[in-house]
Amino acid sequence: MLAMSFELRAWLPATQQRIERLLADRMDLIAVRTPTRLAEAMRYSLLDGGKRLRPALCLAFADALGGGGKAAEDAACALECIHTYSLIHDDLPAMDDDELRRGRPTSHKVFGEALAILAGDALLTEAFWLVTTGPAAEAPARAMMASELAVAAGAGGMVGGQVLDIADDRPAAQEYLMQLHRLKTGALLKAACRLGVLAAKGSAEALAAADRYGEDLGLAFQIADDVLDVTSTAEALGKPVKADSAAGRFTFPAVVGLEASKKLAHDLIVRARQAVLTVEPTPGVLAALAEYSVERTR
Ligand code: IPE
Ligand code: IPE
Ligand code: MG
Ligand code: MG
Ligand code: MG
Repeated sequence: MLAMSFELRAWLPATQQRIERLLADRMDLIAVRTPTRLAEAMRYSLLDGGKRLRPALCLAFADALGGGGKAAEDAACALECIHTYSLIHDDLPAMDDDELRRGRPTSHKVFGEALAILAGDALLTEAFWLVTTGPAAEAPARAMMASELAVAAGAGGMVGGQVLDIADDRPAAQEYLMQLHRLKTGALLKAACRLGVLAAKGSAEALAAADRYGEDLGLAFQIADDVLDVTSTAEALGKPVKADSAAGRFTFPAVVGLEASKKLAHDLIVRARQAVLTVEPTPGVLAALAEYSVERTR
């Protein structure tokens, strides 16, 4: 087992607080032009409770490369808006039909299905407002970030992965599972890493490192999510457990077994840590975030 580094113990809560403030500021800006009920539903799901891993990765890459300013902060918030929308829709009765998210009743349980769907739609759309709006000098970098975000979240990314996940005829094959995990979860995590590099105007070498690191971390993160569904509790996770097997979902533990799943996630993280050495020659925040992705308890 890899131990969480001391550095992350201090860094993660501080960064989560920073992200919480950034998200709250942007939610306030959006709320002034949004019907009250919709703003309430967006705020309910967006603020408080998430681990904020996607924005944390974006900011960590930007900071490792000298900082990405407001473009990195906007991208970080856009990533969390899209992730939150994906969770709201994932929990709907037509999808996973779950009642608990981030330790609280799911959006549709509180606001009804129609408003939950619309809150998700609004978070997705506002994410692109956030990432594309800034000083003219930043326009080219922001356009590139928006394009990457669209591909990662869209038909060939997160949404496509969700479709592979719910397919009735999905095979219980490791190759299929890897592809679906890479799309439904890995694509956005990888984009988080790449957007941090783009915001900081990092080199092609840094972008390639973020790509490889994000690819392996993204897959490992969803394998860990599947493992936690089997090994954790609803109190610890803030969402239902044993839900995957109850719903007959193909997950890594179901297909390759629990121990093999843990080993695979671990091996991917060793590779991710190796890949990021060009950005972070002495293992630090990025190495620790990779470990955290599989060693986390929620
Ligand atoms: C849960 O994501 C859904 C997956 C993609 C596995 P997280 O585990 O990052 O959820 P939060 O944001 O911390 O609630
Ligand atoms: C969802 O995967 C991934 C998303 C794109 C939201 P899961 O369905 O396994 O996520 P949880 O376990 O409900 O958080
Ligand atoms: Mg799901
Ligand atoms: Mg789910
Ligand atoms: Mg899950």
